[in-house]
Amino acid sequence: MKKIIVTGANGQLGRAVNIAYAGRDDVELVNTDVAELDITDIDRVLKFVREIQPYAVINCAAHTNVDACETQVDLAYRINAIGPRNLAIATAETHSKLMHISTDYVFDGHGTRPYTEFDATGPQSVYGASKLAGEDQVRQFAERFYIVRTAWLYGDGKNFARTMLRLSRDHEEIKVVNDQVGSPTSATELAGCVLSLLDTENYGLFHGTCEGDCSWADFATEVLRLAGSSTRIVPISSEEYGAPANRPHYSILDNYMLRLTGGYRFADWHDAIEVYMRTETAD
Ligand SMILES: NC(=O)c1ccc[n+]([C@@H]2O[C@H](COP(=O)([O-])OP(=O)(O)OC[C@H]3O[C@@H](n4cnc5c(N)ncnc54)[C@H](OP(=O)(O)O)[C@@H]3O)[C@@H](O)[C@H]2O)c1
Repeated sequence: MKKIIVTGANGQLGRAVNIAYAGRDDVELVNTDVAELDITDIDRVLKFVREIQPYAVINCAAHTNVDACETQVDLAYRINAIGPRNLAIATAETHSKLMHISTDYVFDGHGTRPYTEFDATGPQSVYGASKLAGEDQVRQFAERFYIVRTAWLYGDGKNFARTMLRLSRDHEEIKVVNDQVGSPTSATELAGCVLSLLDTENYGLFHGTCEGDCSWADFATEVLRLAGSSTRIVPISSEEYGAPANRPHYSILDNYMLRLTGGYRFADWHDAIEVYMRTETAD
C-alpha cells in the first residue's frame, strides 16, 4: 500500500485529489490541513514525514488570496516558498516523491503566444513572486519532484465560478474584466493530471491547464449561461476594476511538456465547466 500525504487537503485541489483516489486500493491517503500539518513549520514537517515514510507528498497547501498577499508578504513567502522548501527537504530525506503546484502568475503577462515551461518568468505580484520562489526551493532541495503550474482553478471551494453564481442571485448585471485572458481549469482535471504524473518517473516542470482560453468576462458569461441565469455580464477593464494586486493580461499556458512526454491530456475548458456546473446547479 502506497501512503500519500496530502497537504492543504481541505482546499479545492485537495478535495479533488481525494475524489480522484477514491476506489484505488493501492493508495492510502494521509490528509492534512494547517491544523494537522502546518507546512511552514520545518520541525513538524520533518517529524510527520519521517513517521509516515510516504511514497509521495502532494502539496495542495498555499496562500491563494492574491490580493491579500500584497499586504501579507511574509505570510505569503512562509506558506508559498518556505512551505514547499520544508516538504522538499523532508521528502528528499525519505526518498519520497514531491508533487508541488504552482501558477500562471509566475509570468509577466506580456506574452503574445502561450507560455511554455521554457519561457522566462517575471511575476507581477507578491503571490506570483512567492510561488516562483516556492518552485525554486523545490528544485533546490527535492530529490524527485514534479511542479505543475495551473491557472484559474475552480473546484469545491471559493472560486470565480461560485462567486458569479452567488452574485447572479441578486444582481441583474455583474461587471467582469475582459482584458485578462487565460484558461479556466477544473480541479477535477488537475487532479487527473496529478495522479497520472505520480504513477510515472516523468519528473520536472509541467504546465497543466484546460485546453482553450477566454477572458474572465467570457468565462462568467458561460457559467451563467449553463446556470440558465438572466444576469448580464458587463465587460470592464482591469484598471476600472482596480484590484490591489497586478494580474497578468496574457496568462495562457501551453501544456508543452505534457505533450512532449505523452502525459495527461486536459479537457477543453468549455467541457470541464459544463461537467462542473452539473453538480453546482443540481439542487
Ligand atoms: N485557485 C486558483 O485559481 C489557482 C490558480 C493557479 C494556481 N493555483 C495553485 O493551485 C494549488 C491549489 O490551490 P487551491 O485553489 O486548491 O487552494 P485553496 O483552495 O486555497 O486551498 C489551500 C489550502 O491550503 C491550506 N493552507 C494554508 N496555509 C497552510 C499551511 N501553512 N499549512 C497547511 N495548509 C495550509 C488552506 O487552509 P485555509 O483555507 O485555512 O487557509 C487551504 O485548505 C495552490 O498551489 C495554488 O497556488 C491556484
